Amino acid sequence: MKRLTILGSTGSIGTSTIDVIASRPGEFRVVALAGGRNLDRLAEQARALTPELVAVADAADASRLAGRLPATIRVVSGRDGLVEAARHPDADLVVCGLVGAVGIEPTFAAVDAGKDVALANKEALVAAGAFIVARAQATGARILPVDSEHNALHQCLRGESTDQIKTIWLTASGGPFRGWTKDALAAATPEQALKHPTWVMGPKVTIDSATLMNKGLEVIEARWLFGVSAARIRVVVHPESIVHSLVEFVDGSLKAQLGRTDMRHPIQYALTYPDRRPSTLPAFDLVAAGPLRFAAPDLECFPCLQLAYDALALGGAAPAVANAANEVAVAAFLSHRAGFYDIPAAIRAALNRHAGAPAATLDDILDADRLARQTAIDVLASGVQS
Ligand SMILES: NC(=O)c1ccc[n+]([C@@H]2O[C@H](COP(=O)([O-])OP(=O)(O)OC[C@H]3O[C@@H](n4cnc5c(N)ncnc54)[C@H](OP(=O)(O)O)[C@@H]3O)[C@@H](O)[C@H]2O)c1
Repeated sequence: MKRLTILGSTGSIGTSTIDVIASRPGEFRVVALAGGRNLDRLAEQARALTPELVAVADAADASRLAGRLPATIRVVSGRDGLVEAARHPDADLVVCGLVGAVGIEPTFAAVDAGKDVALANKEALVAAGAFIVARAQATGARILPVDSEHNALHQCLRGESTDQIKTIWLTASGGPFRGWTKDALAAATPEQALKHPTWVMGPKVTIDSATLMNKGLEVIEARWLFGVSAARIRVVVHPESIVHSLVEFVDGSLKAQLGRTDMRHPIQYALTYPDRRPSTLPAFDLVAAGPLRFAAPDLECFPCLQLAYDALALGGAAPAVANAANEVAVAAFLSHRAGFYDIPAAIRAALNRHAGAPAATLDDILDADRLARQTAIDVLASGVQS
């Protein structure tokens, strides 16, 4: 039986992970859960899965939650609580479904402890990929991508060698604003942005999909997961989201992975890896899928994608800076305190100011993240538009 820690268990990836576990009785045992502020859901999950440890964001919530759970379940909180859950001595695999840079330290802690990680939290690799990947290589921990595109690439690359990759093609649905003009985008609302055409996900990644920052973050994530340079990672818009990504090899062959838009597929792949087990989900119907379209991304209307490439080219702390500014700007957009184009403006301002921040240690990265957040807050407060 594989023993799991689930970080971000109350979110979209976390609940899908628990669905997969429930569909495979006897295969998994959950030893630790971590959520943020959704205490009701966390309490329900903890009572059903009876882990040894539960982590929450706030200390005050931890004592409230402990009162609702059997005394055998220990409740911890904050950054230390997340790290403790990530390093749980009994866990074989840590599923990281946290959203944002809060995932950096627990993801690093998990690989540092030699745990395999099923990673959905792309922001951890974007900000601290160099440190996390190097540590995983040193301890032998495997990073199994859950993000559907990288999961597809992982599948395409089984049995292949990295030096025979010509191009990694990340597919992008184009989000809800595909084909919109710049003027229309300038007035776009969070309610419109939250209507993703093909995937049901948490709010932050849904907004990232609408700005194409999600694809930019995924370019950086792919660089660290597969060890290929930015020049060999390209994005193609594929509105149907059926081809989850492709690898083009030096001999001109392309391998793609196709499937339904249901995150339980990549989650199951990561949970059962290296085995493949029968799925209880509906089969994919190729004929019903209809025609598949592919197009170049519109970098004029969606500047975040280029900004992510720029951050990757700058290297060092720049991706962490871009990621942190984006998080602040997305939160502001979601609460109607910023417009659509304030998001790239905040990223650009933070990169201009902090791209060269020290990046020799993981603590440097965390410092750069903090600086970029403050700059993004200041830029948004000053009402600057791109
Ligand atoms: N959802 C998808 O289909 C999908 C697909 C591909 C990749 N991803 C990636 O997977 C990650 C998770 O996305 P999601 O859509 O599942 O997000 P989500 O639904 O917003 O869930 C985020 C999870 O993180 C927890 N969390 C947030 N801040 C925390 C903190 N300070 N301390 C402890 N826990 C905290 C939340 O807890 P509470 O809710 O309890 O506050 C929740 O459990 C993101 O990096 C995203 O880009 C998601």
